[in-house]
Amino acid sequence: MPPLNEKYTLEIRVLHWLMAIAFVGMLIVGFIVSGIPKNEPARHLYLGLHKSFGITLFALAALRLMLRLFTAAPSLPDAIPSRQRAVAQVAHVAFYGLMFLMPVSGYVRSISMGQPVRWFGLEMPRLLTEDHPRGLIAGNVHAVAAYALVVVLVLHVGAVAWHYVFDRMNLLRRIV
Ligand code: HEM
Ligand code: HEM
Repeated sequence: MPPLNEKYTLEIRVLHWLMAIAFVGMLIVGFIVSGIPKNEPARHLYLGLHKSFGITLFALAALRLMLRLFTAAPSLPDAIPSRQRAVAQVAHVAFYGLMFLMPVSGYVRSISMGQPVRWFGLEMPRLLTEDHPRGLIAGNVHAVAAYALVVVLVLHVGAVAWHYVFDRMNLLRRIV
């Protein structure tokens, strides 16, 4: 196996795994909530948690982007061809975009529909007026972006597995 001594910084590594778990959890809870009828109490509970964790993820995404912009990322091993590096870069940029688009579209959907957004009980400011057509668009953006996140995630994990199996390259070492 080629040596993979270079690692992402400790902060990026910690945030990567915290946020990976949280995003997968958010996707699961989001899809469950959208299937629960409007008047069921369970929906209220799950949606409240979904919004609270979603807002937390927005703050963590901002922190992570800052760290990532101001610290150097380890370069990929020379054995990886330049086209694959470019694909990895596109996937990572897409992830960063989706880390913001998911919470922002969720917030815009809720506020536009006149629904409250609380962070573990603390009412968040309403930065927009109520506007149902806008809320519907934001809801569709939220759902489509969630599917896009699943696609990028499958490609991301698939690429790591591919390099491990076919190139004998353990990329996980760079992020753990
Ligand atoms: C940060 C990451 C987030 C992820 C990954 C995520 C994911 C999802 C998913 C997968 C759904 C189901 C989509 C569908 O089929 O309609 C959903 C629904 C929803 N999300 Fe999020 N979400 C996030 C953040 C937020 C935030 C911050 C808010 C609000 C402040 C929010 C509010 C909602 C609402 C209101 C629904 C609709 C539930 C329904 O069907 O009535 N989400 N979310
Ligand atoms: C859950 C399974 C996951 C696994 C096994 C995994 C694995 C990895 C590995 C091995 C790397 C290092 C790639 C390299 O060598 O440069 C990496 C980087 C990265 N991963 Fe993941 N990942 C997972 C989930 C996620 C999720 C859910 C996201 C986004 C929400 C994500 C976003 C990123 C980003 C953006 C990078 C580049 C580092 C950075 O700029 O922050 N990963 N991941």
